[in-house]
Amino acid sequence: MDQLVIRGGKPLRGTIPISGAKNAALPLMVASLLTEDSLTLSNVPALDDIVTMSELLKNHGVAVEDVPGANRGRTLRLTAAPPVSTVAPYEIVNRIRASVLVLGALLARTGEATVSMPGGDAIGIRPIDQHLKGLEAMGAKIELKGGNVIASAPGGLRGATIRFPFVSVGATENLLMAAALAKGTTILENAAREPEVTDLAHCLNAMGATIHGIGTECLVVQGVEALHGAEHAVVPDRIEAGTYAVAAAITGGELVLDGARTDHLGAVFETMGKAGVNVSNGLGKVRVSHPTGRCRGFDVITHPYPGFPTDMQAQFMALMAVADGASLITETIFENRFMHAPELSRMGADITVHGSSAMVRGNPRLRGAPVMATDLRASVCLVLAGMAAEGETVVNGVYHLDRGYERLEEKLRAVGADIRRTQDDRAIVP
Ligand code: EPZ
Repeated sequence: MDQLVIRGGKPLRGTIPISGAKNAALPLMVASLLTEDSLTLSNVPALDDIVTMSELLKNHGVAVEDVPGANRGRTLRLTAAPPVSTVAPYEIVNRIRASVLVLGALLARTGEATVSMPGGDAIGIRPIDQHLKGLEAMGAKIELKGGNVIASAPGGLRGATIRFPFVSVGATENLLMAAALAKGTTILENAAREPEVTDLAHCLNAMGATIHGIGTECLVVQGVEALHGAEHAVVPDRIEAGTYAVAAAITGGELVLDGARTDHLGAVFETMGKAGVNVSNGLGKVRVSHPTGRCRGFDVITHPYPGFPTDMQAQFMALMAVADGASLITETIFENRFMHAPELSRMGADITVHGSSAMVRGNPRLRGAPVMATDLRASVCLVLAGMAAEGETVVNGVYHLDRGYERLEEKLRAVGADIRRTQDDRAIVP
C-alpha cells in the first residue's frame, strides 16, 4: 500500500499548474457514446478515475486513443462506432460511481442499457433515484434486477419537463445527455449549475445539441436526430485549485495557481478572504498567501454551486484546525462527510461533530501522526494538515488521492513541501 510521508513546517512558495477537472472530464468522456464520430478532449488530467472510465467505455466498444503532443494534460480521442455494447458490468461500476452516467447516453444512442447499481461509498449512500425518475419521465422503462438497472426505450426517449426536488450534479448530467437525442423538448428545472455541468453542456452543443439556459438552474434541451464529433478542452479543476489555495494559507506561504478559473471559485475565495487569507487574481493566475498559516476562525455551510462546495469542506476543516479561533462547518450535501475529523483529531485537532455540523477550535500546534485516508477529499485534507503540523505525518490509503489529484506530491515538492511516497506492505495501524 502506498503511503505519503510528510514533514510539516515548510511555507510553500512558487507556482502550481492547475490540471483539467476530474468531475468535468468524466461526463465529457461519457458524451462520446452519443455519436459515432470522434470526440477529442484536451486538458484531460492523468488520474486513476480517467483510466477506469476509459476501461468502462472500451467495454462499451468505444475506441479511446491518446493523441500525442498535448501541451497541457492528456488529449484523448474517443470514438463510439457501432456496435455499442450496452452493458456496464459491476466490476467496473463499483470502482467509479460516475459509471452511472452511461445510462442516459446509452438509452439515447441505442434505446437500451444494463448498468450495475453503483454502491454507496464513505461519504454517503449515494442513491440514483433522481436519475431513474427523470429517465422514466422521458419514456424509459426501468427495472431493477440482480443489482442491475435494466433500462429500455425501444421507441426512443421523448422530451419531458423534470423538476429536481434537490440539486443533483450527476442526475443533471445524465438527463442532459439523454435529452440531447430525445424527441421533443426537455426542461430540467432546479438543475445543477456546477461549472462541470456547464462544461458538459457546452461540449454537447459543440457536438450539435441544442441546449439553452446553460449556467442557470433551468436547462432547455431541444432534442436532435444525431450528434457529431467535436473538439473540447476540459475546464480547469476548481477543487484542485481551491485545495492548493488552502495549502498556501495553511503553511503561511504564497502560491500562484496557474490556470485557475477565479470565476469558478467565488465562494471559496470569498470565505478564505474573510478568514484573513490574501487572494489576488489576474490573467488566469491566482496568488494566494498568508503570513503565518493561522487564519481567523470562520463559519461555512456547504451548498450547491455557486455556494461553498462540499468538495472543499475537508480542506477547509484542515485550515480551521490551526486557525486563531473557532469555526462551525455545516455539511448540507452528504450525510457522512466528516470522516476526516477523527483523523485530524489524532493530530491534535480540537473538533466536535454534531450531526451535520462540526465545531473546530483552532490549535496552532498540530502534531504529525500516522493517519488513514477514507475518501478523496479527506485524504488531501490530511496532507494539508501534515504540512502544517510539527513532525512527521504518514497518510495511509493514498490510492484515494490518486483518483483525483494529478501528480500531487510532485506539484507540492516543487513549491517546497517535504513530502514523499513510500510503499508499505505491513498491516496499517494508524
Ligand atoms: C458529484 O457527485 C461529484 N462527483 C462529487 O464529487 C460532488 O461532491 C457532488 O457532485 C456534489 O457537488 C462527480 O462529479 C464525479 P449529487 P454526484 O448527485 O453527482 C443525493 C469528489 O470528491 N442524491 O449532486 O454523485 C446524493 O446522495 C466527488 O470529487 C440522491 O439522493 O452528487 C447527495 O447527498 C465526491 N439521489 C446529493 O444528492 C440522486 O438520484 C448530491 O449528490 C442523486 C443524488
